[in-house]
Amino acid sequence: VTDRAVEALTRLVRDVPDFPEPGVLFKDITPLLADAAGFSAVVEGLAAAGRDASGATRVDKVLGMEARGFILAAPVALSLGVGFVPVRKAGKLPHDTHSVAYALEYGEAVLELHQDAVAPGERVLVVDDVLATGGTARATHDLVTACGATTASFAFLMELGFLDGRAALGDVPSTALLTV
Ligand code: PRP
Repeated sequence: VTDRAVEALTRLVRDVPDFPEPGVLFKDITPLLADAAGFSAVVEGLAAAGRDASGATRVDKVLGMEARGFILAAPVALSLGVGFVPVRKAGKLPHDTHSVAYALEYGEAVLELHQDAVAPGERVLVVDDVLATGGTARATHDLVTACGATTASFAFLMELGFLDGRAALGDVPSTALLTV
């Protein structure tokens, strides 16, 4: 599974220079999503982070972060046979939320999670496309903690190793299908 996922990522993720601003090399996953075999391979690669060695599911929920995390986390949840929970940007969720602010390169952003979306004691798998500075993932972990739940693992398509986002994740296990 991992070999096919890495092959798909290497072949189907497109580098776009100077997007969304000069000096940034954007990782465009849309060609990967449009390829059924490639999409399936990476979903199964991510889902492995929610299984034990025997293949049994070891998480209660899969969380995905707006917006690209949604696209990946939802099929991972179905593959594992558990529910999907969205982590959204400020003001988008309609019911009572937990809210965490985190630093961006310029300014800050806020992520929110419905308070009743994850039950106390549950174990969640957090899925996103890219681990960069780790701010988004860290904020999501803090939201999980606010619910009294546990982040069992993070799973990313790609980790930008030079930004050392892993340092923001403490001792929570984290896997990336590809480190660039
Ligand atoms: C991107 C990406 C991750 C996050 C990683 O999302 O999808 O969620 O940045 O960066 P970090 O590790 O430095 O926090 P973005 O905020 O661009 O949102 P989008 O998916 O809605 O475009």
